[in-house]
Amino acid sequence: MKKTRIIIATLFALTGAVQAQDAGQINVICSVQAEWCNLMQTVYSRTTGVKVNMSLKGSGEALAQLIAERANPKTDVWFGGTGDPHLQAAEQDLTLEYKSASLPQLHAWAQQQAAQSKFRTVGIYSGPLGFGYNPELLAKKKLPVPKTWSDLLKPEYKGEIQVANPASSGTAYTMVATLVQLMGEDKAFDYMKKLHRNISQYTRSGTAPIKAVARGETSVSISFVHDGPGEKMQGFPVETITPSDGTGAEIGSMSLIKGARNLEAAKKFYEWALTASAQEMGAAAKQFQLPSNKSAKVDPRVPDFKKIKFIDYDYAKYGSSAERRRLIGRWEKDVNSLPR
Ligand code: G6P
Repeated sequence: MKKTRIIIATLFALTGAVQAQDAGQINVICSVQAEWCNLMQTVYSRTTGVKVNMSLKGSGEALAQLIAERANPKTDVWFGGTGDPHLQAAEQDLTLEYKSASLPQLHAWAQQQAAQSKFRTVGIYSGPLGFGYNPELLAKKKLPVPKTWSDLLKPEYKGEIQVANPASSGTAYTMVATLVQLMGEDKAFDYMKKLHRNISQYTRSGTAPIKAVARGETSVSISFVHDGPGEKMQGFPVETITPSDGTGAEIGSMSLIKGARNLEAAKKFYEWALTASAQEMGAAAKQFQLPSNKSAKVDPRVPDFKKIKFIDYDYAKYGSSAERRRLIGRWEKDVNSLPR
């Protein structure tokens, strides 16, 4: 908190705090964790005078809202959340083509995300999928730390694992798409049916499972591993691991909404969000994704990508509307409907 206050104070000093005056407003759907959304809202409003109306929504829910308000958009910018639904929004003509002059300052994966969407979205961060676990709870229950995807199928983990629902959560959709790419589709669905027996709950939000692990409510979660350190910093016993047999990563994205009422103000916020200093606010808010701006400082708690075995994730394929809808539909029918 102290560090956050210092950052806000420094930003004010650098930019010269602008009095909250009639500098307009923007409506932002924010799909990262509340701490980060709130920090961006406070700093941007105080430094520019622009009122930022933030609405917090998971990736899948954000997309559903944009589809629902297509005829009369109330949103100007969609900040964060996994890249697949941003690509789907681009394909469905819900978002606006916009080429930032800052694109060359971003990592190749972020630029590729932009190019793949015909410049209707852009990568703002990346993070690997893996497992969260509570070492104290595992020790108490005499359970080993799971190291591979197949470890999660062991009967001793029955009722011990939580993951989100892929219809509402981009984290969980990243898991479905990762398993399909890792195992082949039919084998991945067989796997998820078996995994279903060990799942205690499919949550709405992607971060709920690791929060449950941290608080000792469940032993293991399937989560983005960058969501672990923030929980640990609050004093909770939580560790993370990436499966040694390979995993996927998200490209957290940002899009401008087609038909935005506050387009010029929205573009300024978008440009600001791509700067190194704005991206460093993630770590200041205890969020440890890898920033897309190559000049942004990388906090030591950001997962080391070089040590992780990644699959060659096909972002274009798994971000396409037809594929995402089909896989989520199959998951509902073949997996979620089964008794446990
Ligand atoms: C958390 C993670 C983000 C991720 C988001 C997806 O906020 O820190 O990196 O993009 O969850 O949320 P969802 O609820 O859609 O899984």
